[in-house]
Amino acid sequence: MRRVNRNERVRIALTLNGRRLSAEAEPRMLLSDFLRHGLGATGTHVGCEHGVCGSCTVLIDGVAQRSCLTLAVQAEGREVRTVESLAAPDGTLNPLQQAFRANHALQCGFCTPGILMSFTDYLARNPKPTIEQIRDVLSGHLCRCTGYAGIVAAIEEVAKR
Ligand code: FES
Ligand code: FES
Repeated sequence: MRRVNRNERVRIALTLNGRRLSAEAEPRMLLSDFLRHGLGATGTHVGCEHGVCGSCTVLIDGVAQRSCLTLAVQAEGREVRTVESLAAPDGTLNPLQQAFRANHALQCGFCTPGILMSFTDYLARNPKPTIEQIRDVLSGHLCRCTGYAGIVAAIEEVAKR
């Protein structure tokens, strides 16, 4: 295996929200930083940068993962979805986003992209979660504004449809 200098830039190609893209990055660059600064996908937010707050959550091959705990090089050839993929091209919010708006599930919105991506994954696997299951998934996210009640209500609303 070829040894890569830690400052050597490598080209990383991935599919982001359905588009094949590539850019250069140092091998130590985090996926969260690569998405935001390398590919301009600034909808993914970065809070704690060590896996606690959940704000950087994206889908990698359909599975919710912390992009601050993933190196950009690990996303080579993978399919990454960020919050930018949720609304329709004309800006129409998807049902989960609409439920967040209707239930006042966000205030500053910093935590929202990560929560939306976690539940995009979770609701695809479990479309009718119990309130305990919703709270369990939500426990992987920190929100400093809402008190969480509106978020739970929004996800319950989507689950009931
Ligand atoms: S920024 Fe990734 S979990 Fe907080
Ligand atoms: S809405 Fe502000 S941190 Fe959650």
